[in-house]
Amino acid sequence: MLRRAEIAVCWALGFGLLAQAFAAAADEREPISLPPEVKERFMTEMRGHMGNLDDILAALAEGDFAEAANVAEIHMDFGHSMWSTMMEQGMSAEQILAAKKQMRAKGMGMGQGQGQGMGHGMGQGMGRFMTEDFRSMGATFHEAATAFATRARQAASPPTAADYKETTEVLQAVTSTCRACHDSFRVE
Ligand code: HEC
Repeated sequence: MLRRAEIAVCWALGFGLLAQAFAAAADEREPISLPPEVKERFMTEMRGHMGNLDDILAALAEGDFAEAANVAEIHMDFGHSMWSTMMEQGMSAEQILAAKKQMRAKGMGMGQGQGQGMGHGMGQGMGRFMTEDFRSMGATFHEAATAFATRARQAASPPTAADYKETTEVLQAVTSTCRACHDSFRVE
């Protein structure tokens, strides 16, 4: 009797694993076709976002909310490849944010993701390879990053428990856009 029960358990486990394997094989994410060099740039940018998120968390853990806001505004907002390049060229966060404000006032510096075709959004014009849905998810991501920066800048010094709680909430709105996009799209 015991043997039979054991066999039944083995079958059940086997079917369970098989069902899981099928579920994993059915990749329903929408493919985005990119030329190889654009794909490489895109993936590098993505790994950069992982780093940005880590830098933001490190700054928050240090209680340096202004630095966390700088990371989001320079490396995650619309046109971030332009702001990031300025940083690589040695400009300070203050100088970059001032330049960004000036450009925005002239209706520039929003990146190509917005369809303005004049900036360097989606990493030097990657936007034209993306579908409308994909670009709009990218836009949600940039907006969430800006909302995070805005809240982080309102924090007291030293930050209060409410500052930590609310900043974490708006940061989670950022990571939920990372997650939503990864659940919906893949590149090929
Ligand atoms: C607008 C869509 C979108 C957003 C927003 C987005 N990603 Fe991605 N990301 C992708 C796609 C598409 C891939 C490629 C996935 C694939 O083909 O399997 C990717 C890949 C990655 C990779 C893998 C890179 C590699 O070299 O393998 C990392 C890491 C990553 N994203 C991190 C992030 C983080 C962190 C965020 C948020 C802070 C984020 N992404 C936001 C679309 C997005």
